[in-house]
Amino acid sequence: MKIVTILGARPQFIKAAPVSRVLRKKHTEIIVHTGQHYDANMSDIFFEELNIPKPDYHLGVGSGTHGKQTGEMMIKLEEIVLNEQPDYVLVYGDTNSTLAGALVAAKLHIPVIHVEAGLRSFNKKMPEEINRIMTDHVSEFLFCPTDTAVENLKNENITRNVLNIGDVMYDAVLYNKELAQEKSTILADLRLEAKQYHLITIHRAENTDDVQNMKNILEAFAQIEEVKVWPMHPRTKHKLASYGLRVDTIPNLKVIEPVGYLDMLTLECNAKKIITDSGGVQKEAYFMQVPCVTVREQTEWVETLETEANILVGTDVEKIVAAVKKDVRPVYSEVFGDGKAAEKIVEAIEHV
Ligand code: UD1
Ligand code: UDP
Repeated sequence: MKIVTILGARPQFIKAAPVSRVLRKKHTEIIVHTGQHYDANMSDIFFEELNIPKPDYHLGVGSGTHGKQTGEMMIKLEEIVLNEQPDYVLVYGDTNSTLAGALVAAKLHIPVIHVEAGLRSFNKKMPEEINRIMTDHVSEFLFCPTDTAVENLKNENITRNVLNIGDVMYDAVLYNKELAQEKSTILADLRLEAKQYHLITIHRAENTDDVQNMKNILEAFAQIEEVKVWPMHPRTKHKLASYGLRVDTIPNLKVIEPVGYLDMLTLECNAKKIITDSGGVQKEAYFMQVPCVTVREQTEWVETLETEANILVGTDVEKIVAAVKKDVRPVYSEVFGDGKAAEKIVEAIEHV
């Protein structure tokens, strides 16, 4: 089997690593990097740390408006897919790279495999929601991480070749957790004590593109006295600068550059709490049994809300602070599968 895998953004490199490892045992994989993320600490570091083979094609599309970015990707991807004539095109998640890949393949009648299918926030203002809906509706194989995702697809009349195989990000965590413990020196480097700090990540457009939301978030962080570490996404860095909002006046806050995956796993599993608007980080908090506070109005990962493993707070200052201070006692269960999602994906495609 020949598969063209389309990647472009940080979480996609992490999701692809376990699948690629299994796929390449028996099949040919051609990796295309759209160039959506391009800083070394948003892209190259993950290929190196996770041993993902070097992309066969790099499109160098870079940043831009949604139409321009997605359109440029499509023009270049079409040429490659026509040239490679793969059996399948494989896409992950819900970024503009996902949508571009799915649309190009579907129109060339190459079956699309969508990993992380069926997620919904039911908020069409999110670019990711549009990307997910469109991708799911043109995909041939829909690999879902949860029962909720399967149910969401059923509600949109998508039932053929829909499988809950668990979450590939869980595969990645299980594979890399010990390696992270061995290799990462980030706690010592940042002088952090285990369970004595909160970990922050913020990058969602609905937060970063709204100055009031960012003001609220920073005000909440100022009211949380404990040590906080924040590997800042470049989008957030640029937006804060454009609003003239400062973070260096917030007590006990260490803002750092985005970190590699092994450092991130180490920061996550040693955090007292995780405060985030990331999809992947909400799940990793759950896998590592670290209580999470999600700075959004909705989450696709509704399973994490049971037993307060994750608390949804939006951007209300008081709600953020109260959730971070709350003494929660979550009970965790295997709602994201058994960490063997990659094997199940490859097996399912082989037995069509
Ligand atoms: C994208 C995805 C989002 C995902 C996130 C993961 C879309 C619509 N959004 O959001 O779903 O959660 O990736 O991190 O696909 N930038 C840099 N260097 C980089 C990459 C980005 O400086 O290497 C800056 C640029 O100013 C750019 C901005 O970040 O304009 C946004 O980048 P973009 O890829 O458009 O969206 P993300 O916010 O990263
Ligand atoms: N991540 C990382 N370094 C960072 C921030 C995040 O390695 O500085 C990892 C994180 O562990 C998770 C993934 O990136 O595996 C999540 O990506 P992101 O938050 O950018 O996107 P989302 O999941 O919201 O689409």
